[in-house]
Amino acid sequence: MQSVTPTWQRVAPPGQPSEGLTQYGELAGGRRVLLARVQGKVYATQANCGHMRFPLGDGKLDGTILTCPLHKAQFDLTTGAAVKGPQIPFLIKGTKMGRGILSVAADPLQTYEVDEHTDGVYVRGRVAVQ
Ligand code: FES
Repeated sequence: MQSVTPTWQRVAPPGQPSEGLTQYGELAGGRRVLLARVQGKVYATQANCGHMRFPLGDGKLDGTILTCPLHKAQFDLTTGAAVKGPQIPFLIKGTKMGRGILSVAADPLQTYEVDEHTDGVYVRGRVAVQ
């Protein structure tokens, strides 16, 4: 039987990502995490959106709010909470309404603890131990 134990894992070289940018890191077993540096602090979340799992690496960062590039859901990197749902455009043919935006819910992002050392950036992720 497998158990899951949280362990600290190095996911990026020291000083990465640069201020205001995001990048991917990788946990043991190949799971990617998204790293973002805001005002000198690194945040780590799951790498894919809480809506339809679109990769968040090209998302727009505004402070600690990350906007998904696909449907513009917004997530607070400090908690992983979805602060704005996806904005899905729709078109109604043959009506005067024409088009609109449907706002739906997104799941929150999983967040990870982060610690920076002289040899790199570490996150505390879960790996299976047999
Ligand atoms: S996949 Fe991110 S908002 Fe839809």
